[in-house]
Amino acid sequence: MSLVSTRQLLDEAAKGGYGVGAFNVNDMEQIQAIMEAAKETQSPVIIQASRGARAFAQDNYLYHLILAANELYPEIPIAMHLDHGNSYETCVSAIKLGFTSVMMDGSLKPDGKTPSTFQENVEVTRKVVDYAHERGIAVEGEIGVLGGIEDGHGAGGSGLDHVTDPDQAVEFAELTGVDSLAIAIGTSHGAYKFTKKPDGSVLKMDLLIAIHKRLPKTHLVMHGSSSVPKDLQDIVNQYGGKLRETWGVPVEEIQLGIKNGVRKVNVDTDNRLAITGAIRKVLWETPEKFDPRDYMKPARAAMQKVVALRMTQFGQAGHAGDYKPISIADMAKGYANGTLVTKPLVAAK
Ligand code: 13P
Repeated sequence: MSLVSTRQLLDEAAKGGYGVGAFNVNDMEQIQAIMEAAKETQSPVIIQASRGARAFAQDNYLYHLILAANELYPEIPIAMHLDHGNSYETCVSAIKLGFTSVMMDGSLKPDGKTPSTFQENVEVTRKVVDYAHERGIAVEGEIGVLGGIEDGHGAGGSGLDHVTDPDQAVEFAELTGVDSLAIAIGTSHGAYKFTKKPDGSVLKMDLLIAIHKRLPKTHLVMHGSSSVPKDLQDIVNQYGGKLRETWGVPVEEIQLGIKNGVRKVNVDTDNRLAITGAIRKVLWETPEKFDPRDYMKPARAAMQKVVALRMTQFGQAGHAGDYKPISIADMAKGYANGTLVTKPLVAAK
């Protein structure tokens, strides 16, 4: 099986009424952890890399590691996705490398920090969509601005600063023809999302439901979806870490999102916490150890456990064998002849 388009994964998820985790990677062990979790749970999977990951690992290493995953797990549909592309050029470079979908985050200017205007966002996203669809590559856009910063990308501040306006979401989807739409509903990247268990005043699930009502067929994307579980925080702190008390997005809220059109669920921080906790534990308990395998093996196993759990909770578990992959060349034909619809269905207010 060759790498598949995120669009196909999300179309299938919509049919099956489940969500697909999109897990960030920077290195081989993270890819191995995701693939073992996908095998264990028989899940289709989205592996995503940010600009920071591409700079850290170098494009060719990342690409060939994901190709290796594809060779080793032929029964698992894998999409390779660019997370938070900051410009047309970044998206084009990812597509040329072999990514099967890209996110054009035009909600920020190319500096990846300053919120852009609606018009700027539409223009750059439309340009990426035109380039990508001609080549069979799917595009995720963002309307509204997430809080926090990830890998140097983000407006910072609270997730409530620029939540998505449903009317703008409709207009944006119509003008750009994106395959999926990231919305801002109060979440932020990183570990410090909420200072207490989030309620409706900080996590706007009602807004998500309102957007889904207007755009019932559009695949919604929930960024900043780590749950930041207390047990993972505790392991880090028990072995010398200094995390402040914090809350993430409860899994039940993500599941409510999945019932209301969320098809792609972005998770990075939970895996970072699992890895760090496992490494700290080994180094704390056995400070004489110096072979990286002694701490990377448990780190990889800890991440696998988190990913497998999320795959089960998001509902993608058991769906790896549901469908035959569509080649990227055939995806291009589908966009050209209109069988892959890009005009959103819009429901009246
Ligand atoms: P978390 O920091 O909540 O894991 O979010 C990751 C993300 O949204 C990547 O785009």
